[in-house]
Amino acid sequence: MSTETQHAIDTMLLEERRYPPPEGFAARANAKADIYDLGFEEFWEREGRERLSWFEPFTELYRWDPPYAQWYLGGKLNVCFNCVDRHVAAGHGGKVAYYWEGEPVGERRQITYADLQSEVVRFANALRKLGVRRGTPVAIYMGMVPELPVAMLACTRLGAPHTVVFGGFSADSLAGRMNDMGCEVLITQDEAWRRGSRVPLKQTADEAMAAAPAVRDCVVLRRTGGDVPMREGRDHWWHELVEGESDDPASCPCEPMSSEDLLFLMYTSGTTAKPKGIVHTTAGYLCGVAATHYYIFDLKPEEDVYWCAADIGWITGHSYIVYGPLCNLATSVLYEGTPDYPDKDRWWEIVERYGVTILYTAPTAIRSHMKWGPEYARRHDLSSLRLLGSVGEPINPEAWVWYREHIGSDRTPVVDTWWQTETGMILISPLPGVTTLKPGSATKPFPGVEAAVYDEHGNEVGPGGGGYLVLKRPWPAMLRGIFGDDERYRDTYWSRYENTYFAGDGARIDRDGDFWLLGRVDDVMNVSGHRISTIEVESALVDHPDVAEAAVCSRKDSTTGEAIVAYVTLKAGREPSVKKLQELRDHVARKIGPIAKPANVVFTPELPKTRSGKIMRRLLRDIAENRPLGDTTTLADPAVVAEIQSRAAEEKAQEAEA
Ligand code: PRX
Repeated sequence: MSTETQHAIDTMLLEERRYPPPEGFAARANAKADIYDLGFEEFWEREGRERLSWFEPFTELYRWDPPYAQWYLGGKLNVCFNCVDRHVAAGHGGKVAYYWEGEPVGERRQITYADLQSEVVRFANALRKLGVRRGTPVAIYMGMVPELPVAMLACTRLGAPHTVVFGGFSADSLAGRMNDMGCEVLITQDEAWRRGSRVPLKQTADEAMAAAPAVRDCVVLRRTGGDVPMREGRDHWWHELVEGESDDPASCPCEPMSSEDLLFLMYTSGTTAKPKGIVHTTAGYLCGVAATHYYIFDLKPEEDVYWCAADIGWITGHSYIVYGPLCNLATSVLYEGTPDYPDKDRWWEIVERYGVTILYTAPTAIRSHMKWGPEYARRHDLSSLRLLGSVGEPINPEAWVWYREHIGSDRTPVVDTWWQTETGMILISPLPGVTTLKPGSATKPFPGVEAAVYDEHGNEVGPGGGGYLVLKRPWPAMLRGIFGDDERYRDTYWSRYENTYFAGDGARIDRDGDFWLLGRVDDVMNVSGHRISTIEVESALVDHPDVAEAAVCSRKDSTTGEAIVAYVTLKAGREPSVKKLQELRDHVARKIGPIAKPANVVFTPELPKTRSGKIMRRLLRDIAENRPLGDTTTLADPAVVAEIQSRAAEEKAQEAEA
């Protein structure tokens, strides 16, 4: 284990603060302590029946044929039916599904479950007109507008699998995903609002479609009203397409799907340049997200106003803005913009306006609010909040305690939830009415989940030990593979230990059996809770005509968790300059998306390599973090390191000046 990891472990174990569940909370909680007494099969059997409505009941709980699992076999169901139709049929049509808040101040919409149903049915009818049927792959590239969940639900109603691509991704990234999935239809919008400026989604979509020939139709929602070119025959305005379409649910019945039918792909970074299409299927996924949402967020659908402040373009939004909450009949907030527009109290104004009771966000956002100061939260009445959640990266104890004190009035439990795009649902988390909380620990595996920490040799480590986080048994929402790449699936998750899922995270178990997550152990960086692979950024850099070679690593950052540092060797005759530096950063943003822009670029005449030619990333990380350098004896040319160190120092000085 690296000294860095050891240090992280030592600091965490010094954390002595404990927060037992408040008595009143525990008394009314959806999950009581005895939930842990249920056996694995008993628990998931019960959830399968209680959480979901079936057209035909399942006959077999699960089948484990490592490394592939199937759940709720023999069952027939429809996700849209579970998230919308059954609620309306049960008389909840008037209940608000989403309070939508646009970024421009004053733009608001209330969408009830009945409204959601009408919009979904009309749009599904429109998609049918474009030839979308069971099995037609659809890409969605939108901002945080109500039509985004409408589009997703319309796909699930028809049985068409979707892939939602985050609106911050580039044309290349969008095209790559659409080509991988073979998308035939793309749903997008003219532009999106972001911090007061317009993000040209349709323009990017046009560039992407030029490189994705299988896309035959493009539906465009008018959001900002900006002028966008429409290609005759291919592009259709959303509002024109739905004109005259029926909103009667009987006009477009929910397609009965098998439990294991493909629901969606979500692309995520791995340790190669090519993102992986993570496969999620119908019943297990929906059951997993609904059950975790119900118990971990202690959802009382009749009272709570729930807000997950993530973007639907990532897995968090899929599972905990759209599918989990709607399946559970939640009333949610959906916010389009950034937390600091027009001012840094925007979130708190929203919490006050809608009386938000449950808030779920990421450590990076909490740290931004910390940096801005608690006075913004103090401007508003946040007394409606009763539960806070965190996801995306390890939360440092100071941020955890700040969140509880300044947002939760030192009263609300904070649930630190560990999971991944691959896991689909939260796997390690406190249950707020049961668990004694420790700042910085995600505490215990969810009921029906068997997590452990293994050492290098596959031995389970006991209390006090550290190693790699693994899952010993399948779980309902687990990925069903990497789309079209069985070998990579086996290699990435199942090759380290036999029949055991390797999560790629370091972890430690303390004396009480609580889990402390320590971050990635592979070449995946975590910037603002988003996964970016070092190799993805390196390929984007060497794609620039002036770059000969590049190596990328991350350093700690007090707001974003990690920040990207790129070491770049230019081709002979090209000169480093501030302009070139900016050009390279922009180039990465164009190739992948602004999220992958390196925070620092260090030009160096050479990269540190071993005699066999391998780049020594460990050294680059040490330089980026200003740490004393470890062993350099295996370097082909030790002088290179001193040169890079001095360049890095220069770059820092320049940055400080700027
Ligand atoms: O390293 C872990 C970190 O985020 C990774 C998963 O990233 P992604 O698939 O993008 O999903 C993010 C939202 C689920 C994990 O391998 N991570 C996520 N949540 C936590 C976390 N690390 C520590 N504590 C968490 N609560």
